[in-house]
Amino acid sequence: MAISNQSTHFPVLCKEMVEALGNTNGKTYVDGTFGGGGYTRALLNSGASKVIAFDRDPDAIIRAEPFLKEFGERFQIFHACFSEMDKYLAPESIDGIVFDFGISSFQVDEAHRGFSFKQNGPLDMRMGLGTNQTAADVVNKFSEKDIATILYVYGEEPRSRQIAKAIVAARTQNPFTTTQELALLIRKIVPSQEGFDPATLTFQGLRIFVNNELIEIESALQLSNQLLPIGGRLVTVAFHSLEDRLVKNHSRVTFNYHGLECIYTKINRKAIAPSLAEVKLNTRSRSAKLRAFIKEIRQ
Ligand SMILES: C[S@@+](CC[C@H](N)C(=O)[O-])C[C@H]1O[C@@H](n2cnc3c(N)ncnc32)[C@H](O)[C@@H]1O
Repeated sequence: MAISNQSTHFPVLCKEMVEALGNTNGKTYVDGTFGGGGYTRALLNSGASKVIAFDRDPDAIIRAEPFLKEFGERFQIFHACFSEMDKYLAPESIDGIVFDFGISSFQVDEAHRGFSFKQNGPLDMRMGLGTNQTAADVVNKFSEKDIATILYVYGEEPRSRQIAKAIVAARTQNPFTTTQELALLIRKIVPSQEGFDPATLTFQGLRIFVNNELIEIESALQLSNQLLPIGGRLVTVAFHSLEDRLVKNHSRVTFNYHGLECIYTKINRKAIAPSLAEVKLNTRSRSAKLRAFIKEIRQ
């Protein structure tokens, strides 16, 4: 299958991610969200002996082919959701896990994937594995109340009920098939603000719902508790408050590990945000927050 090379993905907070892992020399890491491989490459170049990567998107797996040639046995990738990484990893065989949540620029920039409210494409939004309905299925088939709930809970859209009502009224004439049909409708309802498209929150809500994103993250964090050895490190990069809250809450709770009470200790007191220079280079990084932890026995 051909994949586009029109888009570039700038890995967000990449240097900070490597720094948060400490000394990576000779260590093995999981990159739970391969994307364009920016994190994987940075880890391997920093001295890590091996990276085991995952991505649910078949296009990301194709993007990984040159990495297999370049890094040989130091790199392995599985086409799988990170909520299933325990099926591919032996316990304690890794030193750290990194997650860069959300979607890649490749996914947003390729109109046919249906993530973008800026370009026209089919109203799809499926990242790959682990999804069985498109965004069009949701807006065309779900009840008004369910659509409003999805937009409110996953998009944090204050006008969720108004938008859901308009969607249901419009679809009786013509079911939604494209991203622009939906974006145009929302722009008639939500007032525009400088630098913020009115369709942003609705698209975010649908995307998170279609891809079960929060359930995926929660499952992956639970798995990390058991897969990391004591002293192992977990680094996450979140792009909105729903993702970030899951990480923050998860890190507050002790868990049982082979009969020991364990906890995540913060490496940095506060979440790390991108520098102004990074935001200037890549505006998509502006909402990113990096959190890093060490798994320890609770004293
Ligand atoms: C923000 S991008 C990662 C970019 C990457 N760090 C880089 O430097 O190129 C997120 C990637 O995670 C993948 N992804 C999202 N949810 C996933 C899941 N539940 N399981 C596996 N991969 C997932 C997406 O398909 C996407 O390719």
